[in-house]
Amino acid sequence: MKKEQVVNCQFSVWYPIFKNHTIKSLILPLPPNVIDYLLDDGTLVVSGSENIHQSPTNNSDSGDDDVLWSDDESTATVTAPEFPEFNAKVLEAINALDGHVFPKLNWSSPRDANWIALNSSLQCCSLSEVFLLFKSSDFITRDLTQPFIHCNDDSPDPAIQYELVLRKWSELIPGGEFRCFVKENKLIAISQRDYTQYYSHISSQEDIICQAILKFFREHIQYKFLDEDFVLDVYQDSQGRVWLIDLNPFGKVTDSLLFTWEELTSGNSLTANQADNAQQERPEFRYTTSEVTVQPSPCLSYRIPRDFVDLSTGEDPYKLIDFLKLKKGQQEDEETEEEV
Ligand SMILES: Nc1ncnc2c1ncn2[C@@H]1O[C@H](COP(=O)(O)OP(=O)(O)O)[C@@H](O)[C@H]1O
Ligand SMILES: [Mg+2]
Repeated sequence: MKKEQVVNCQFSVWYPIFKNHTIKSLILPLPPNVIDYLLDDGTLVVSGSENIHQSPTNNSDSGDDDVLWSDDESTATVTAPEFPEFNAKVLEAINALDGHVFPKLNWSSPRDANWIALNSSLQCCSLSEVFLLFKSSDFITRDLTQPFIHCNDDSPDPAIQYELVLRKWSELIPGGEFRCFVKENKLIAISQRDYTQYYSHISSQEDIICQAILKFFREHIQYKFLDEDFVLDVYQDSQGRVWLIDLNPFGKVTDSLLFTWEELTSGNSLTANQADNAQQERPEFRYTTSEVTVQPSPCLSYRIPRDFVDLSTGEDPYKLIDFLKLKKGQQEDEETEEEV
């Protein structure tokens, strides 16, 4: 995979081309101090929150204010950097998208971090909710630090303008989501996206779904993108209409789901009946065929024990108090050891 392919799959590149066939979205450039804040491991405390005690002098966009733990034991005060100008732009965008948004960076959403959100969902209504998800997500960190990790060309990394993408929140039914692999501008393979579950309607409507996706691809996508190899995520709604959800590089950074990258890139036939498929110019369509094959959610490994979730969300304040006492005790022990 070439770096250029990754550059072309940025949201702000593909969205203007396919705007009429995807979910309404707004793109805001990420200020450098916000990027620094997102990459700073020390400040999990969420900025932009109304209920965090703020000292008046900290209300700047400079972004270099660190979290302060007050020495005064009775009133531990936490301050996180605030970004008032950026916050205002984000709120305006959220309002323009009817109040609820799905956040992304140039390529990825914080799908691996939904456990940390109070509602266990990626739905956001404020910048502080977006920050909490972004700061807890490995996928977001990868976008920021290693976007070209699987590229095999030696050219220097292209400069990236980081962007916050806010998409109008849409209740998507996972059984309606499919990933389409496009090679040399041909739709060669389609996989059920949520392959961990069995959806009976997919097996009963296999042909209809496949034809609808193929028609959508031919009419609205084929030859319109900058590359001839790419991966398309689509959604078929309850009326049967197909929408574009995301566009991804054709290569290892993108999960090949029910295929393997070796199969997709080798040029060999994808199934025994490939001859039939080729004759009818039909992509190979794979889906989970029975409940027996249902697998654990692929994001499970990103989750952490229940206790930590309670701590991070403040759902169980007593647990948090116990945890802080424990930490304090530990620190005191360390201090006495040092004195001795
Ligand atoms: N606008 C939206 N509203 C609600 N859920 C969404 C929206 N866009 C995407 N999703 C859900 O989030 C998942 C990941 O979205 P996607 O844009 O493909 O991000 P990524 O590239 O990180 O996988 C999708 O499979 C879909 O279930
Ligand atoms: Mg994607």
